[in-house]
Amino acid sequence: VREAPIGVFDSGVGGLTVLKALAAELPQEHFVYLGDTARLPYGTKSPETVARYALQAAEALCEYGVKCLVIACNTASSVGLPAIRVHIHSVPIIGVIEPGAEAACATSKTGHIAVIATEGTVRGGAYQEAILRLRGRARVVAQPTQLFVALAEEGLHEGPIADSIARHYLDPLFRASPGQASSGGPGASREPTSFPDTLVLGCTHFPMLAGAIRAAVGPDIQIVDSAATTAKYVRETLERESLTRLESPAPHDAKGRTRFLVTDSIERFARIGSRFLERPISPEEVELVDL
Ligand code: DGL
Repeated sequence: VREAPIGVFDSGVGGLTVLKALAAELPQEHFVYLGDTARLPYGTKSPETVARYALQAAEALCEYGVKCLVIACNTASSVGLPAIRVHIHSVPIIGVIEPGAEAACATSKTGHIAVIATEGTVRGGAYQEAILRLRGRARVVAQPTQLFVALAEEGLHEGPIADSIARHYLDPLFRASPGQASSGGPGASREPTSFPDTLVLGCTHFPMLAGAIRAAVGPDIQIVDSAATTAKYVRETLERESLTRLESPAPHDAKGRTRFLVTDSIERFARIGSRFLERPISPEEVELVDL
């Protein structure tokens, strides 16, 4: 079992930001990554549909004999994880919401936390609930920032378009409007406007837009994403369950291998995915599957 791969699932290419963190944390492990590219985006679909797709994908990955399942998609974790946990008991299942919430709670000094995510993740409320479970007095604001997904996939994650869309979404969360900022006159007796001190990137695509997001929120806001914390969770889970791949005596075998599966368009996945993974993916490494 220790030699078995870790299954990683996402609606498409976004989960590759999580895979990158997993491979950095667990370089000796093998991975099977499944991107449900035929049915993305999940972020705008109903919870019922996402839960059904996510369960099918998780079951398909189990067919590859995985020893652990990582739901590397915030939308699928947010609305699909309960259904997956009801149906699959054979392997540990790890989503990205809990780790993201933990990272946010550990980082925030004031407990005032902003979450940006897809429409589906925000509507499902899983981040808000997970943060409040860990830190009951936290104040959470959540904002859908759906266009960030398209910007990241189009390669428009830097430059004036990304900057202006980032300001459009983030200014209302992090900057006082002229009326709010006034410190005299009729507004003087009001509570001073407080802003979140921490921003959670609650979508796999958003680390790609880190520069534009940072420029919009300014230097003082802590920005967290779930990739690194999820990777740490996975390592701890494997250690606890005695599932970690043992060091191979053969040097050529010391590093884990990754297999990519997609439900549509190998070429597009390889092209866009290379940017997300920050290493070239050749179409020969990618296999078309049907769920
Ligand atoms: N992977 C999705 C997420 O993290 C974003 C892309 C989509 O909407 O399918 O929510």
